[in-house]
Amino acid sequence: MRHFLDINKTDPADLRTMIDSAASMKSARAGRPKGAPDDDQPLKDRMVALIFEKPSTRTRVSFDVGVRQMGGQTMVLTGSEMQLGHGETIADTARVLSRYVDLIMLRTFEEDVLLEMAEHATVPVINGLTNRTHPCQIMADIQTYEEHRGPITGKKVTWCGDGNNVFASFAHAAGQFGFDLTFAGPPTLDPEAVFLDEARARGATVTIERDAARAVAGADLVVTDTWVSMHDSQTTRERRHNQLRPYQVDEALMAMARPDALFMHCLPAHRNEEVTDAVMDGPQSVVFDEAENRLHAQKAVLRWCLGV
Ligand code: CP
Ligand code: NVA
Repeated sequence: MRHFLDINKTDPADLRTMIDSAASMKSARAGRPKGAPDDDQPLKDRMVALIFEKPSTRTRVSFDVGVRQMGGQTMVLTGSEMQLGHGETIADTARVLSRYVDLIMLRTFEEDVLLEMAEHATVPVINGLTNRTHPCQIMADIQTYEEHRGPITGKKVTWCGDGNNVFASFAHAAGQFGFDLTFAGPPTLDPEAVFLDEARARGATVTIERDAARAVAGADLVVTDTWVSMHDSQTTRERRHNQLRPYQVDEALMAMARPDALFMHCLPAHRNEEVTDAVMDGPQSVVFDEAENRLHAQKAVLRWCLGV
């Protein structure tokens, strides 16, 4: 059973295979209409359930389109519409869904819900974001970095802002793909130490820096994300904004990075909060390539999970 639950739980050779496969699937369909089927149809006769307990634009649409391009079928479900949201256990939901579908993609709140789904499902389960991690996003980000700049191994990635779920998957990737990672943010919003310790144990240089300019110096890639994630209480909004304002990515901060540095954001962005319009729409920004590559990277993840 191949679940895709997190980047640190997946073999580095398999991660590399998926990134390369995503790039070749992308180039194989260059210029075709979005709804045109791929030449090979590895998901023919496969049924995929996409379950969302939180809102989504990219994850929802890119998984749906990707499965269809590969010949499969999807059903998109929201947690509140299911008995899952009305008291049925996760374990029973997993057992039942496994009788109907070939794969489950789940976006949820607590990581334990995902892990319980994976434990009891008899089909592969993919993590479509939890409060703790967002591995599909970072697979797309690695693909995007490499399509613009070549291998990410040995490069310096600087994260500015909240030590959140997207940062955590970057930390997993630092360990698995071998790049250096600097976190720049206030101590109150530091990532969990376990993510940093694990990346270091796998040989990555991981640094915490309180000064944004020093953190970005020499960076090959600058990344940020929303200051208030979907699982964060809105009551913390003002405090978070006050603490994170010094870490906004603007043109002056980008100028501290290497001249060929890229800028990434998983989106949705809150323009002129964590990133200015000038950076989002500037020449170093690859945010819409990242969004596109969710499609290609997840197609590779789906194929790997199903062994097709
Ligand atoms: N980046 C990302 O996962 O976007 P959605 O929340 O729109 O799926
Ligand atoms: N950190 C954000 C990512 C959204 C794709 C959140 O969890 O809301």
